[in-house]
Amino acid sequence: MARPESAAEPPATRAGIRRDLQNAFGDLRQRLAYLQLSEADAQRLRELLPRFREVNDRFAEEFYRHLLDFPATRRFLEDAERVARLKELQKQHFVSMLQAQWDADYVAQRQRVGLAHAMSGIGPQLFLGAYYQYVRFAVERLWELAGRDIPDRDALLSLLKVIFLDAALTLETYFRQSTEDIERALEIVLRSHSALEQFARLTSHDLKTPLGTILNVCDELLDDFGDELPGDAADLVATARDTALRMNRLIDELLSAATLPMTPESQRWPVCLADVVREVQQRVQPLIDEKPATVELQFDADFPDVLGVHAEVREILVNLVSNAIKYGDKDPTIVEITATREEDHVIVCVADNGPGIAAGEQELVFSPFRRLRTSGDVPGTGLGLYFARHLAEKLGGALWLESMPDVGSRFYLRLPAAP
Ligand code: HEM
Repeated sequence: MARPESAAEPPATRAGIRRDLQNAFGDLRQRLAYLQLSEADAQRLRELLPRFREVNDRFAEEFYRHLLDFPATRRFLEDAERVARLKELQKQHFVSMLQAQWDADYVAQRQRVGLAHAMSGIGPQLFLGAYYQYVRFAVERLWELAGRDIPDRDALLSLLKVIFLDAALTLETYFRQSTEDIERALEIVLRSHSALEQFARLTSHDLKTPLGTILNVCDELLDDFGDELPGDAADLVATARDTALRMNRLIDELLSAATLPMTPESQRWPVCLADVVREVQQRVQPLIDEKPATVELQFDADFPDVLGVHAEVREILVNLVSNAIKYGDKDPTIVEITATREEDHVIVCVADNGPGIAAGEQELVFSPFRRLRTSGDVPGTGLGLYFARHLAEKLGGALWLESMPDVGSRFYLRLPAAP
């Protein structure tokens, strides 16, 4: 499915839009005009200044009392000395708003404030929400000055305008800083991902070449001299060959996991889930045959189709079902595959009655090489679920689990539904 053109806009264009916005509002005079802030407002604010200065301590007290009331803001204000210092800075900030000297210093001071909060990690909802304290205080003070009656309309509008000017200047820097942080983080992720890809390719080449030699030597030994080797020696060579084969598979899995790009929507096709489940059943049959316990593999006759890549959906399910069989500790071991369509996606569930996974270990199973303590001597590379989740995400879906020790696990695979 082709993406709409707007969604495919290169980031350069978005940066361009941001620059245009900055230019459009970069000029202070233009900003003041936009907010309809005039010299008359400046005059009015300066006249109000002494009446607000009288209660500036109260303002700072109330401002920080409010912030200290909420855990989300309190955690930035644990240090009493810091709060005392901030009260002073807050008072100066309020006063400078009413001095109404709208020049480069005024803008720079607001930018510094926006930057300080963005860099401290104070969320935008907390930062912007605190401006309500400015509005509330302005209204209450004017109400007091009017003898607890309707506040002066022009004075109130001047105050609101200057509070909006302040909020716009600080928030703009705040968001610019946050956007730059995100862009930098993204760049680091992209750079490290391509470095990882390169590393994985080189390493796999360096590892696979000698491994291929070991495999050949073992094969030749067995083919050419197998009959002459004492029984134990032939077994040892066969074990060495099997281990080398396993290592080969491990390298392939590592390489695919490290280099998986997102499958573009145009390369996802309707996949018949019922066919996939039949193939999964065939693939896991040897495991069922090997298991001393009875294995009951149950599934619906009807499955909704999904959108993806047939072989990849199958790999994910083979992984989930074979894990359920391998780790099953009950007789019978029951593995059930179901699927339900929910709006534009399908949730496939692989449920088992196995040993289950403790809450603290549930996310661990998706990490590379992190095999659980309960894995015992069940063979595996420790990459299966890591790889399966990668595949699910690559197909625009997700893979997660719910589990209860001794009761069993339910792995959920979400995939886009076929249209
Ligand atoms: C109306 C919104 C706010 C205004 C006008 C404001 C004002 C200020 C000012 C003037 C400073 C000093 C900046 C400098 O060093 O130049 C500052 C710093 C600080 N503010 Fe706010 N503040 C606001 C909201 C908040 C909120 C919601 C929190 C949450 C707890 C907060 C926590 C802090 C902290 C922790 C610092 C020190 C940052 C640093 O270490 O550099 N502020 N604020």
